[in-house]
Amino acid sequence: MAVAFATTAQASDELRNLAKDFFEPLPSTVPALADNIVTPEKVDLGKALFFDPRMSASGVFSCNSCHNLATDGDDNMPTSIGHGWQKGPRNSPTVLNSVFNEAQFWDGRAADLAEQAKGPVQAGVEMANTPANVLATLNSMPQYVEWFEESFPGEEDPVTFDNFAKAIEAYEATLITPAPFDAWLNGNDAAMTDEQKAGLEVFMEAGCASCHNGVNIGGQGYYPFGLIERPGAEVLPVGDKGRFAVTETVDDEYVFRASPLRNITETAPYFHSGVVWDLKTAVDIMASSQLGADLDETEIDQITAFLGALTGEMPEVVYPLLPAETSDTPRPTG
Ligand code: HEM
Ligand code: HEM
Repeated sequence: MAVAFATTAQASDELRNLAKDFFEPLPSTVPALADNIVTPEKVDLGKALFFDPRMSASGVFSCNSCHNLATDGDDNMPTSIGHGWQKGPRNSPTVLNSVFNEAQFWDGRAADLAEQAKGPVQAGVEMANTPANVLATLNSMPQYVEWFEESFPGEEDPVTFDNFAKAIEAYEATLITPAPFDAWLNGNDAAMTDEQKAGLEVFMEAGCASCHNGVNIGGQGYYPFGLIERPGAEVLPVGDKGRFAVTETVDDEYVFRASPLRNITETAPYFHSGVVWDLKTAVDIMASSQLGADLDETEIDQITAFLGALTGEMPEVVYPLLPAETSDTPRPTG
């Protein structure tokens, strides 16, 4: 059946119609944000802040340290290293396309990117800074003050922690990566290989798409990791109970957000624990833990090929020049 779907134009249309029940292509323009108008000035400011290590207490860590845009928006480590060489508890997800996630973090504890951006700056294991120190740092550099004024025109005191987060959110909203799957969903049959189309079919028929769907092929809902069969503690560490920490409801123990799967071929290692380096192994674990399915090697190869069609064109990033510090700039600590 998979082969039939892959080979004729009519079959391809049929597969596309099925796929459209689950997935949406990336929009061709930057999406609108709640209560945050995206302007070129704000995007440029957000980009500077994203790359500026002086937003951390030590002056060492920027957002880009753990969401490196030269390596697909993540840090390629099992779990991140932050302030004082501390190892955080979870794997760093990519920031690419994160604007399309229903909520942010593995457990969805931040509603949007602006709320999210305030977290890492203050997290002891990440940037270990305080909002007051971030604002003192920004206010000490006239160029930053000017950029905030241009980005938030008409505001009496535009250098605020809220605006810091909004500018970063606006920048992140531009980090979107159109992929062959989008071109195919939009009608270009040649954009995916026959193996990828067969993989898409297995992905839908086996049930992966019931959790990984929407624009980001995930990032939309919460499910127990181990819905059918809980993976061992090496993959699902007992200490991290996921959404339980957010809702304190027993039903939410070991519940996590179904991960967005765009660019998944580029963002190993996998799972919130970051212990699985091989994508085929991750697919196999998902099949047994979430679906109780025993996929054969061909099906795993096909799904993995389909996941490759989600690898998009990376945004071209020109390294920003940051304002120079002044004698008033708070000194690095820790
Ligand atoms: C999660 C952005 C700094 C490590 C996230 C997410 C975003 C993001 C958007 C959620 C992605 C998703 O849920 O799919 C930022 C920004 C930063 C920043 C804007 C700077 C202000 C850092 C730093 C580190 C780090 C410095 C490492 C030391 C992580 C980790 C997660 C995460 C481990 C997952 C945490 C969890 O789910 O509990 N970040 N990040 N981030 N980031 Fe960052
Ligand atoms: C994570 C693929 C089925 C829920 C993942 C990841 C992959 C994946 C590759 C790792 C993402 C990353 O590390 O960034 C698949 C495939 C499936 C499938 C190929 C079908 C064979 C499902 C189903 C559900 C589900 C049916 C819901 C019942 C989740 C959740 C996570 C996840 C909650 C996050 C796990 C964590 O906390 O580490 N999936 N998935 N998946 N998937 Fe699936």
